[in-house]
Amino acid sequence: MANKNLAQNQNEITVLVTGGAGFIGSHTCVELLDEGYRVVVVDNLSNSSAAALERVRTITGVADDRLRFYESDILNRDALKRIFSENDIDAIIHFAGFKAVGESVQKPLEYYWNNIAGTLVLCDVARAHGVKNIVFSSSATVYGEPEFIPITEACPKHSATNPYGQTKSMLEQILTDLYVGDNEWNIVLLRYFNPIGAHESGLIGEDPKGIPNNLLPYVAQVAVGKLESVGVFGDDYDTPDGTGVRDYIHVVDLARGHVAALRWMGGKVGTGKAIGLGSIEGPTQTNGTRAGVGIFNLGTGTGSSVLDVVKAFSQACGKDIPYQIKPRRAGDIAVNYAVCDKARDELDWAARFDLSRMCADSWRWQSNNPDGYNAR
Ligand code: NAD
Ligand code: WQD
Repeated sequence: MANKNLAQNQNEITVLVTGGAGFIGSHTCVELLDEGYRVVVVDNLSNSSAAALERVRTITGVADDRLRFYESDILNRDALKRIFSENDIDAIIHFAGFKAVGESVQKPLEYYWNNIAGTLVLCDVARAHGVKNIVFSSSATVYGEPEFIPITEACPKHSATNPYGQTKSMLEQILTDLYVGDNEWNIVLLRYFNPIGAHESGLIGEDPKGIPNNLLPYVAQVAVGKLESVGVFGDDYDTPDGTGVRDYIHVVDLARGHVAALRWMGGKVGTGKAIGLGSIEGPTQTNGTRAGVGIFNLGTGTGSSVLDVVKAFSQACGKDIPYQIKPRRAGDIAVNYAVCDKARDELDWAARFDLSRMCADSWRWQSNNPDGYNAR
């Protein structure tokens, strides 16, 4: 079946957002709805709450028919078939998956099954319904120990140190192979750096289960008094203050990157010039859709250390954040930040928000919702 046409007015485009109740998914739903897209979410709520989508409705004020929610698993083929039959889906933004690095080492089977098999079922059902436009949540983790810093898309992929990272790398390959086998596939691999922050309304944000693994939610929970002190994993790295450096990106900027990727797929921006290393560009299809595989880093291009983050968050919340230096965490690298020129040139996208804004928005979310959505 021929692929769906994305070169049309976005009011006529329906986007299936897998994992749309999650952290990045919920923020992306807001940006899509604000831009006039119709959104269908499929999420099994394994790491999220339906309350997030209610809040997306509050923020955007959209009528029910513009945001539909199916509480289903992407591994459930029959449920997916029903979703594709009941909705005229044009494109997919695929967030659904497990994402905890440490847990993936303990539960490799669950991670490979959910992330890989889930994506295979999704793509198979989508193809059967003539939908071959997909934006995939990849990660800077595919660069492994990066060959050079700052990281461009031309930086060779290195083997990830954990099953989670392997699933991202493998799925990039699988999706690329789909395009090689059938040139109608239109694939964007977005390699996120470290998403943090929250919507400025303070209504949606990151709501990790249990003790957070990632720095920002940990710092936020110390700030709100739920945890005592931040453990800083190593102060003897070869960095300006000895602590690890990352490229933190505001989740709303990241969400906007997905809208930019959809536009790019529809051929609405960009001039068809060579996409550069790490991407396969195909010809524009007769239906106006730009086929091929586009690979883009999404970060800010700025590195911040753990202590920079602690300081910025202290300023945002107006109190000192206690911290203690701990040993290095296994598997961590010293420095990781991106060059995002390709996304700027091809997607017409750039991050707008700096670290202080990320912390201010994160603090608003955390202080207004100390127990997150609290609805699980
Ligand atoms: P999240 O856990 O908040 O969102 C993922 C969503 O997918 C959750 O709502 C979960 O309930 C749902 N889900 C999981 N398995 C499912 C299944 N089989 N069927 C249906 N729904 C399912 O995570 P997030 O931070 O929003 O991340 C979204 C995507 O971005 C993930 O693929 C993640 O690997 C990727 N990513 C995240 C980061 C990060 O630091 N947050 C960085 C790089 C890439
Ligand atoms: C950031 C920095 C830590 C917690 C992870 C995944 C990656 C991607 C994004 C999905 C590091 C330090 C952390 C703490 C600390 N996710 N730290 N104390 O490891 O860069 O990336 O999330 O794709 O794949 O690996 O993010 O937030 O865990 O750590 O000192 O309690 O903060 O050592 O330098 P990371 P993070």
